[in-house]
Amino acid sequence: MAFLTIAKSGTLALNERSKQLETTGRPIHRLGFGESPFLPPPYVQSALQNAAIRKDYTPVAGLPELRERIADFHQEIDGYPVSMEQVLVAPGTKLLLSNIMHAFQDAEVYLPAPSWVSYAPQAAMEGHRLIRVPTFWETQWRVDPELLDATITCHGRSGADKLIVLNYPNNPHGLTYSRDELLALADVLRKHEVWAIADEIYALLHHRGLHASLASIYPERTLVTTGMSKWCGAGGWRLGALLLPQDTPADLYDAMVGLGSETYSCASVPIQVAALSAYELSAELHDFLNRQRRVLAVIGHMIHAEVTRLGIRAHRPEGGFYMLIDFSPFSELLARREIHGDADLCERLLEEAGVALLPGSCFGLTATDLTARLAYVDFDGPAALNDAKEDDAVILRHAGKMLQGIADLGQWLNRLSEDKDSR
Ligand SMILES: Cc1ncc(COP(=O)(O)O)c(C=O)c1O
Repeated sequence: MAFLTIAKSGTLALNERSKQLETTGRPIHRLGFGESPFLPPPYVQSALQNAAIRKDYTPVAGLPELRERIADFHQEIDGYPVSMEQVLVAPGTKLLLSNIMHAFQDAEVYLPAPSWVSYAPQAAMEGHRLIRVPTFWETQWRVDPELLDATITCHGRSGADKLIVLNYPNNPHGLTYSRDELLALADVLRKHEVWAIADEIYALLHHRGLHASLASIYPERTLVTTGMSKWCGAGGWRLGALLLPQDTPADLYDAMVGLGSETYSCASVPIQVAALSAYELSAELHDFLNRQRRVLAVIGHMIHAEVTRLGIRAHRPEGGFYMLIDFSPFSELLARREIHGDADLCERLLEEAGVALLPGSCFGLTATDLTARLAYVDFDGPAALNDAKEDDAVILRHAGKMLQGIADLGQWLNRLSEDKDSR
């Protein structure tokens, strides 16, 4: 017998491992796995409760009224025309991303390194040619348009469909693109007729509310993936949406609906009804989003300040709830303790300091780069939201557990230095 070889997603594996260690009584600082700390607003929870009676299958593309509401929502928030015909609803964006990969045949997939953990396995499962586009600490991990142009010119085959996945605000590094930066990237994408998957799942959690959508700049070939997992604190509810271009080729649309019909049938109907309420533009919704942004900005900036105070390199996050931290200033010290790569580093940090981080190599970075993703979500989200309009100091009280984790990380690094000095 022969089966597909595919490992469990790195993020889920880490979460399970940390939980297992916790059951042995070891306190673990959970800075690796990232899940929204917030809850869907009470009126959205009530909408879900009231929808429990719904048991019908909906059209594969989703409830028409929900597709219309999502179209209106993004038209208003992102400032470009979207109609309901462009919207497909599904049980999570992960499935939509994987179905997009499936809908293209024998494509070239350009993936920035680092990128979210699941894109590369999804491309590999479809047998696409994976081409990494390196990004660098010095240029804030942003894809450089000239380098992208050179990469496509060098590796692209004429006639092959080309896809790139751009995710911003980004998981794992928390940085994003300005409108001008997207304009420069769009020029290159247009030149090479590349389809862009714009994974904008963290868009509404841009810390300053300044997200620019690639679809407003490169509307002809941008497929936006988004959903309720992050901004609505509803990851486990599984509600994702795809915003297709206005003139999507009928073959692509039919492939997406066909794939949905043969795999998930439709997103769960009570969740779709609750989503109708979540996607209603109101003062309450804006207040909910603004509170989340403020809490994430204040906590993210403090964690960043503490990490860099230890001598670890990190860029201050601009959106979402992650940052990429770089231990390369400690490479010599780490090598003396037989720590030569990011997997060794994260393993030893978990075992010796009880700090869970996710190795940068899970995101396509080189293991010897000694990077790791830090998620700053281990706090009581609803309580923090209540304090979102208070002074920073009040918000920061909620970050105590994570700050203790950073302090333990600092002590571990100090012990490395002391060991060196005592030799
Ligand atoms: C960048 C990115 N894209 C997509 C997803 C998947 O989201 P969903 O819960 O909608 O499947 C995640 C979830 O962690 C993510 O971080």
